[in-house]
Amino acid sequence: MRVDIELPNGSKADLAKRLFAHVENSTTDLAPDVLEIDSWEYRDPELARRERREIFGRFPIVAAHSTELPRPFDFHRTQLPNNEVLLVRQQDGTVRAFVNVCRHRGARLVEDETGSRKQFSCRYHGWGYRPDGSLKVIPAPGTFGGIDKDCRGLVGLPCEERHGLVWVVDNPEAEIDVAAWLGPEMDETLRRYRLADTHCYQTGSFDEPINWKTLTDAFLDAYHIATTHVGSVAQYFYSNIQLYDPVGRHGRAVTPRRSIDKILHEPPETAPIEEHVTAGYSFMPNMVMLRQPDHFQLLTFLPHPRSAERCRMEIRLLIPEPADTEEQRTLWDKNWRILMAVLRDEDMGLNRDLQMAMGNENAPRTLLVGRNEVVNQRFHAWLDETMGRG
Ligand code: FES
Ligand SMILES: [Fe+2]
Repeated sequence: MRVDIELPNGSKADLAKRLFAHVENSTTDLAPDVLEIDSWEYRDPELARRERREIFGRFPIVAAHSTELPRPFDFHRTQLPNNEVLLVRQQDGTVRAFVNVCRHRGARLVEDETGSRKQFSCRYHGWGYRPDGSLKVIPAPGTFGGIDKDCRGLVGLPCEERHGLVWVVDNPEAEIDVAAWLGPEMDETLRRYRLADTHCYQTGSFDEPINWKTLTDAFLDAYHIATTHVGSVAQYFYSNIQLYDPVGRHGRAVTPRRSIDKILHEPPETAPIEEHVTAGYSFMPNMVMLRQPDHFQLLTFLPHPRSAERCRMEIRLLIPEPADTEEQRTLWDKNWRILMAVLRDEDMGLNRDLQMAMGNENAPRTLLVGRNEVVNQRFHAWLDETMGRG
């Protein structure tokens, strides 16, 4: 099944014209100036604390795909920047999010990563919670003493399911409105992609000694394809050619595959560009969705709850229809193995070393982001604006 490329605002012919011109002239979309960044932004513990509060405590991020907890009473445990979170599908089909901590003396409530339970029992003293987070069981209540059970449910976090994704704001005091956060154009894009009907075929993660912005940056630029990925992806993609368009506060970058050469002579109005590009949607603050011709890859970058120089990257392979046959599974398994190998062997080692290199006593304090690294520039402009800098 082919996934069409969705452009709620703007025409495919315009996109084709711009792409063809860039490929023919070896040019790319450009930011107005070179950007300088203080490297301390990737290492500063105080800034990391502020980001967890002022970014991840305010804005919705993706915590899971809906098919990771498909049925009522299914749960999924995951580490977000401020809290370890328990997502639970309710009897009525909605999803709720809770901080994974028992209200008695603070034990970690659920250890398993996924499963299905009608009651969550703490293994320390056996307090039990219903799937809606309310406290149901206190063993030996006569000896424990009088407390109001109704006030001792699990701490809830704002949670909303939209476009087949479970979004959470990692702060109990916050509110959530995913449609408003996405904005009308991105919301419409995801609706047209029918993301809500996709299946999460495979998930993977990397826990790395890398700042979350360092790693996010690595998946925004198309400048490094020819060098870092010389033995793999560079055969299939043009390096340093990217078309960037803002989509509200988020963005879309289109990168041509080398196969586009075959259609350069076709009229832009009818040229089938969707087969020859990857569209990378950058969602503030921490997600990239790669729309490939027949599937999606969802990449999320999660700051470590206590360290500025650690993060977790999660990868999800989303496919338009469930893989029912052996043949389909073989195809997606191969796709997954290649993706993970490229990430592990080419991107991770390099960025681990980069983070370490920045810690040199006399490493340059100013990092440079080129005019061609236009998506990175947008990411940092948004961060600056959000954190009240510049
Ligand atoms: S800490 Fe959970 S029951 Fe005591
Ligand atoms: Fe890369």
